[in-house]
Amino acid sequence: MSVLQGEEGSGRGRRSPRRPNPMSPRGVRALGLFFILAAGLAGAQDEAAHAVRRKRMVETQIAARGVRDPRVLGAMAAVPRHLFVPAGSADQAYEDHPLPIGEGQTISQPYIVAFMTERLALGPGDKVLEVGTGSGYQAAVLARIAAEIYTVEIHDGLARRAAALLERLGVRNVRVRAGDGFFGWPEAAPFDAVMVTAAAPEVPPALFAQLKEGGRLILPLGDPRGFQVLTVVAKRGGKPVSKAVLDVRFVPMTGEIQKKKRP
Ligand SMILES: C[S@@+](CC[C@H](N)C(=O)[O-])C[C@H]1O[C@@H](n2cnc3c(N)ncnc32)[C@H](O)[C@@H]1O
Repeated sequence: MSVLQGEEGSGRGRRSPRRPNPMSPRGVRALGLFFILAAGLAGAQDEAAHAVRRKRMVETQIAARGVRDPRVLGAMAAVPRHLFVPAGSADQAYEDHPLPIGEGQTISQPYIVAFMTERLALGPGDKVLEVGTGSGYQAAVLARIAAEIYTVEIHDGLARRAAALLERLGVRNVRVRAGDGFFGWPEAAPFDAVMVTAAAPEVPPALFAQLKEGGRLILPLGDPRGFQVLTVVAKRGGKPVSKAVLDVRFVPMTGEIQKKKRP
């Protein structure tokens, strides 16, 4: 104590006037401020680390595999994927694979998100229907490229969580609905493009019906419990023109499509 007194040289008692008692209101305020600043700094460091991982993801997983559209690359570089995965998986968010998001569902591999988006050849004024909102990540990517996104998710909890996150991130051009995407979104149809992010054995008829003439639909077509082929279906003269583009494995589309009888 004597050393402290001597150093500070206040001569007015045992406590230095420039070193607040941590239990005094001033001390508690100072400690609070310290912790807020420290947490803010740690948060900023985390965000910077995620931004580095995101840039590397775009270069090494997406551009390197042939995705060229600058709007797609720009959207993938901008959307904070780490916020769309459970907090415990945030460090893996930019890795080259899908991740679980709860309810037995997944957020797709980043490359697949970019590939499917590019294949829709979207224009800035386009209206898009997504079936399978999941985390909301694909919708957030689409929202940076097209004008209006309508997305349907069969799991109520996932739909609510995705809607809340998109709202929190200020994404204003996505509408989320809980329901069976097999039936599309008739009130908002027709769509310039439709993306189905769950495996289906056939194109749900309502989705093709809700596609504009000249529009494009992409879906993983094939055995929902096995492998599928990403297929682009264009509407020409009211008829489907299909092109198989990539072998994939998605979680199955559930709901009405599973009730249909198969030979
Ligand atoms: C691979 S995940 C989609 C990932 C999502 N696009 C994302 O960015 O996180 C497939 C999603 O489709 C949903 N799904 C399956 N069948 C559906 C249906 N009939 N209607 C709407 N959503 C469906 C699943 O619940 C799951 O969330």
